Amino acid sequence: MAEYHLQPVVLQGTEAVALTPLNASPREWITCVLADFDAFLQDHASAEKKASGMALSMVSHYPDKPALVRAMVDLAVEELNHYKEVMRLLMAKQITPAADRKDPYVTRLNKLVRKDAAFFLLDRLLIGAIVERRGAERFALIAKHVADPELQKFYAAIAKSEERHWHLFVQLATDLCGHLPVNCRFCELADLENALVADLPVRPALH
Ligand SMILES: [Fe+2]
Ligand SMILES: [Fe+2]
Repeated sequence: MAEYHLQPVVLQGTEAVALTPLNASPREWITCVLADFDAFLQDHASAEKKASGMALSMVSHYPDKPALVRAMVDLAVEELNHYKEVMRLLMAKQITPAADRKDPYVTRLNKLVRKDAAFFLLDRLLIGAIVERRGAERFALIAKHVADPELQKFYAAIAKSEERHWHLFVQLATDLCGHLPVNCRFCELADLENALVADLPVRPALH
């Protein structure tokens, strides 16, 4: 997999500890994904493309925030590179890419964004962090359980990359709002996300 240039963000120990962890994905999830890996790959390609689009929409909405613009431009490129890599896998396996569908997990998380201007960007950034964190956890599960050594390597690299992304979103939110509001809201959103994951049906898809 190609190397990308997104600046690594390392959260300090106390920062990471203060953030509520996400519960482990249900065991059925990895079983379901491995049972229909072609369908999973189709959904994974769409998810990477949407992640790139989301980063670009942040650039369009906040042109007056240069640090955010720089980070989101880099992120959009990195996610698009993930998309390219997954599309290569699909093509090599002669799998037809699927039409993009609404992701129920992301749709329901986005409903938690408070519309008040004081909170809107904070919530968008923290939901970005949570989606990336869940993605990192799930890609690492695939790296651990998939039989093909090439796929193991590929998903381990993707998991590392998504791990950096959730740290980046937390860092951007902290730079904007400070530690305390970030920690409090992240913990609230993580609790809601844990309940959401428990409620959603398991599919051969990222979420
Ligand atoms: Fe990605
Ligand atoms: Fe990502």
